[in-house]
Amino acid sequence: MTDSLYSTSLRTHMAGGLRTEHVGATVRLAGWVHRRRDLGGLVFIDLRDRQGVVQVSCDPETLSEEAMERARRLGAETVIAVEGVVAARPPDAVNPEMPTGEVEVKAAEVVALAPSETPPILVAYGADEELAAEELRLRYRYLDLRRQELQRNFQLRHRVFQTIRRTLDELEFVEVETPMLTRPTPEGARDYLVPSRVNPREFYALPQSPQLYKQILMVSGFDRYFQIARCFRDEDLRADRQPEFTQLDLEMSFVKEEDVWAVLETVMATVWQQVAGRPVETPFLRMTHREALESYGTDKPDLRIPWRVHDLSDDLGGSEFRIFRSAVEEGGRVRGICVPGGSELSRKALDELDGLARGVGAAGALWTRLAEGGAQGGFGPKISAEELTAVSERLGASDGDVLVVVAGPDRVTSPALDVVRRHLGRTLDAVEPGDRFLWVTEFPLFEPDPDTGEPVPSHHPFTGFDPGDLDLLENDPLAVRSRAYDLVYNGSELGSGSIRINDPELQRQVLEVLGIGAEEAQRRFGFLLEAFRYGAPPHGGFAVGLDRMVMHLAGGSSLREVIAFPKTTAARALMEGAPSPVDDDELEDLGIKLV
Ligand code: AMO
Repeated sequence: MTDSLYSTSLRTHMAGGLRTEHVGATVRLAGWVHRRRDLGGLVFIDLRDRQGVVQVSCDPETLSEEAMERARRLGAETVIAVEGVVAARPPDAVNPEMPTGEVEVKAAEVVALAPSETPPILVAYGADEELAAEELRLRYRYLDLRRQELQRNFQLRHRVFQTIRRTLDELEFVEVETPMLTRPTPEGARDYLVPSRVNPREFYALPQSPQLYKQILMVSGFDRYFQIARCFRDEDLRADRQPEFTQLDLEMSFVKEEDVWAVLETVMATVWQQVAGRPVETPFLRMTHREALESYGTDKPDLRIPWRVHDLSDDLGGSEFRIFRSAVEEGGRVRGICVPGGSELSRKALDELDGLARGVGAAGALWTRLAEGGAQGGFGPKISAEELTAVSERLGASDGDVLVVVAGPDRVTSPALDVVRRHLGRTLDAVEPGDRFLWVTEFPLFEPDPDTGEPVPSHHPFTGFDPGDLDLLENDPLAVRSRAYDLVYNGSELGSGSIRINDPELQRQVLEVLGIGAEEAQRRFGFLLEAFRYGAPPHGGFAVGLDRMVMHLAGGSSLREVIAFPKTTAARALMEGAPSPVDDDELEDLGIKLV
């Protein structure tokens, strides 16, 4: 940006934008005192604004005694205005770490515009400065947001949003807002409820997503809709989950899977190219849900780690080693990965894999090192030489590698091998650099409820399914293949979508499988089912988790780094203090009594 863009009544230039080309210019700057160094005579002030930090030197030779006195007393985070001349620093004073490090501003005047009390946290600048504890930083979020790294994240977030809007506009999508005060939307989490004062005993729900509205917009003939939509879900929080988050939500009429994927590929490739300068190859790789679980043990494989899971049941199912044999006899499988170069891992590091596997429900993980003359340690010596050869061949293993094997039903071997794969990928630095996008397709329409075994939607109840599986709907619902797909990026679920059901009768049948009878369906989604009776076009869509997307682009590891005012994992806002108790009379107005 040019200086004229930034110049205001109170300043001419941005402090962080000064370079050697400005040498000799008289400038007026405004910003915060980042640090002050008092060298007895000279006083150096690092002045910070949105663009960065510049050094201001206050010299008793040129400044009045009064101005020097003011400069000496300036505390961190005081807001100041400085007038002065940009000068080149002498060669020995150049700071190559700072973009402004070749210049400084020789102050002719320094005034305080607003005081600051001693700040409870230091505003770090650059990677080497230590951060205060996160709780404290969330409590004083306005100070933490002054930090260069966070400023950069929000610039990035802004550019991502602008690029998305531009790209979808060019593709003739129409941005439409949908209500925040609505009925519960079925995305599988708990709802945030809002009591209605004018309708006592009734509640709105905050939307878990705009799912039902966007389908209705298709019935309304919008053809291509999008929204940068706020969603609310009361669920267990993690680093990549916030109770309120932002989706790029979109829906299209008269489409099949390929059409939706092509739009998302254009959006992603454009954002990665224009915002991050990283070209991304399209179309993205595709893999069925079944294949993802088979080869990686997860529906969101991180393809930057090259190792695959293999089925070793044929090689080890008849082994003398009881753990392998009985797993197969009991209907399970023996599955494993080869970890190239894994022999360098200590015995302790290898034994830790067992705990990781147990943590996700498996009986454990077994390992052995391959070395000249056979297998060393772990399960290796317990199987026959022929078995070892067969397994090594199947896994393409050679000396110096480690084999990790998990036995049991797929429901435990898959997650166990997934955690082991990711853990060792990181430990051994085997995560190749790059942006690996992947479509995971053909999710099952239902999955068994972990407690009851009854079918529950694996996506949501409006997801369409393979017409060839219609017969299975009644007899073997868990085998029905849906038309849902996920977009996975470097092992993280960026988004989900599906081709929807647009036939009210089919929709009724699916709801029935879910145990939702006509009456309940009418009560919960009657408006959608009714809309479908008046000409619902074939349609499908998608939702991208935008916070996650920005987090990955920013190279961060927590959504809190890319959401301006995030919640803690206990769903608390520490700065403003939410949630909070409310006054009795307010509750009374709402007809609510606390118990
Ligand atoms: P889904 O529930 O899979 O699909 O959500 C889509 C994407 O939203 C992001 N996401 C979250 N991000 C942060 N915090 C959360 N608590 C959170 N929950 C979800 C994820 C996820 O992939 N209506 C459907 C989409 C559709 O069918 O079109 C939906 O919301 O990145």
